[in-house]
Amino acid sequence: MAQIDWKTLGFDAYRTRTVVVSHFKDGKWSTPESTETFSFTFDPFAQVFHYAISCFEGLKAFRQKDGRIAMFRPDQNAARLQRTADYLGMPCPSPEMFYQMCEACIRGNMEFLPPYGLGASMYLRPLLVGMHPQMQLVPYPEAVFAVMCAPVGSYYGAHLKSCAAVIPGNYDRAAPKGSGSYKIGANYANTFKPYKFAHEQGYAELLYLNSSTREFVDEFGSSNFFGIKGNKYITPLSDSVLPSITNKTLQQVAIDLGMEVEKRPVPLEELATFEEVGGCGTAVVITPLSHIDIKPVLEEAEVTRSFRFCPDGEVGPKSTALYKRIRAIQDGEFPDEHGWCRFVEAE
Ligand SMILES: Cc1ncc(COP(=O)(O)O)c(C=O)c1O
Repeated sequence: MAQIDWKTLGFDAYRTRTVVVSHFKDGKWSTPESTETFSFTFDPFAQVFHYAISCFEGLKAFRQKDGRIAMFRPDQNAARLQRTADYLGMPCPSPEMFYQMCEACIRGNMEFLPPYGLGASMYLRPLLVGMHPQMQLVPYPEAVFAVMCAPVGSYYGAHLKSCAAVIPGNYDRAAPKGSGSYKIGANYANTFKPYKFAHEQGYAELLYLNSSTREFVDEFGSSNFFGIKGNKYITPLSDSVLPSITNKTLQQVAIDLGMEVEKRPVPLEELATFEEVGGCGTAVVITPLSHIDIKPVLEEAEVTRSFRFCPDGEVGPKSTALYKRIRAIQDGEFPDEHGWCRFVEAE
């Protein structure tokens, strides 16, 4: 077992041991190889460098209470990767190959798999990049698919902590009818600059509006949006947001907990009516928001409006219940009634 302080793990590109790699060339994938070199060789003209032909997935594996190792909803990640690869005109591994390479990555890095009970997990990062050397703007069936991993903490520590978000009036995340609903690297490139300004001002997250009219809430820079009103879980219906697997899971858990779910356009004005608001994604499950400010220009001081949610930095009861239920299923402490866990044989 690696010498890691599991309790203080953050969410970083921790260097583990094994990366599992396959190449697509001449119409087929090579037999996946486990390598410990942590480096790839690319032609300088490779698509990925010039035209951002790159996409990825993110999922977690957990050491459960009974000692078994479970990947959480990998079928959803395999399907989303296929959808994204189609959008980029790339070849994509089959779901079975996707699972096998994720499993091989876990097995090749067993000493980095956090033990049960500390809130930590193994984050798997499947990556698909275009390799073909070219100048023309045409898809080409040549790619590398690699699965790497890193042990990660519970992101915000043992307990949910609320944080602040800002709506930047001078930045958009996704163009109407653009690439916003696909997990492509390029969607994240244009968030680095606004994130830098947001973080400098103490905001943990950016909340983006729909870019055509700026009247509706889309999503955060790294997670989907949900709001709680009474017994309702409300989340935006928009074709510019990433179809979050955590959001889908939360919607089911909300129903299981006797809540109602509404997936529909969420007008900006409605922010004033939510009792709880959060971001949701694999890394965090839930990031509760204490407040969301509107800034016409992110780099300037003016805040035109501030929406407050749970007072005193408390985390709302519904967000807490949803979070606890998902974490309990992931840790094998609550029955996996929907069959979300896929178990990995340690070999
Ligand atoms: C922009 C964006 N939205 C939403 C999510 C949440 O998706 P998931 O729940 O599948 O991790 C992510 C990723 O984690 C993301 O990057």
